[in-house]
Amino acid sequence: MNRQEPDWNAPLGISGQALSKLRKSIQQFQLGDGGGPAYLIAWNRQSVLSDPALKKLIDLWFKEEREHSRLLGFALKRFGGVEIKSHWSFELFCGLRKFLGVGFELHALLGTEIVSHVYYKMLRKHGQDTALRGMCNLIIRDETGHIAFHKARLAADARNCGKIYGPLWSALFRARGVLAGTVLWINHRSALLALGATDAEFYGWIWRDTSAFINSLRREVHQHKDDQSRTRGGLLTNNISVPEKVGM
Ligand SMILES: [Fe+2]
Ligand SMILES: [Fe+2]
Repeated sequence: MNRQEPDWNAPLGISGQALSKLRKSIQQFQLGDGGGPAYLIAWNRQSVLSDPALKKLIDLWFKEEREHSRLLGFALKRFGGVEIKSHWSFELFCGLRKFLGVGFELHALLGTEIVSHVYYKMLRKHGQDTALRGMCNLIIRDETGHIAFHKARLAADARNCGKIYGPLWSALFRARGVLAGTVLWINHRSALLALGATDAEFYGWIWRDTSAFINSLRREVHQHKDDQSRTRGGLLTNNISVPEKVGM
């Protein structure tokens, strides 16, 4: 990936309590955002990966997640922390992904994309540190592409399998977004509050981004099937073209 590295040697802009809380938060994200298994782990993942075109997109997606873990590792080192190899919430998440099947896994990963996108946007807004903001800029750009990939995938399901994203689906999707956000907030609230964020801001952002996803998906479903989403972004975004037969 040919893009400018954050200025890891810039003077530290965060100190004291806020820094120690941020260190813990980044530590968990370094593991959760590409630091664990960077591939689908559901027991029936082959039903998706057997499609070469879709596998290529999924490989690009996880390659970018690995890159996030690398960036977060540098941020962690900058803030005086060490990498962790496990965390209860990450182990639980991986266990559910493995046993509940690839349909659940992809939906759960979409939920984490949306809520972690909010986390990075809040970190960029409130974290008064040059390198941290540089890192957030890179990750936010990639996560925007990942969310676009999931939107294209769900839109393909609508075209090919007649899936309808009506009021019941959107209510459940919003509820899952709030639930995923709450799981994130349990572990990362104190760091973001120490930087100046608020509960209302976090949940407001979760609600807006979840709604934006639903509205954007519905718009895409109503477009011609060849009219794929093309947003600017990283490696994955520039390659998004979800196969017509997604088969999940
Ligand atoms: Fe990521
Ligand atoms: Fe992502």
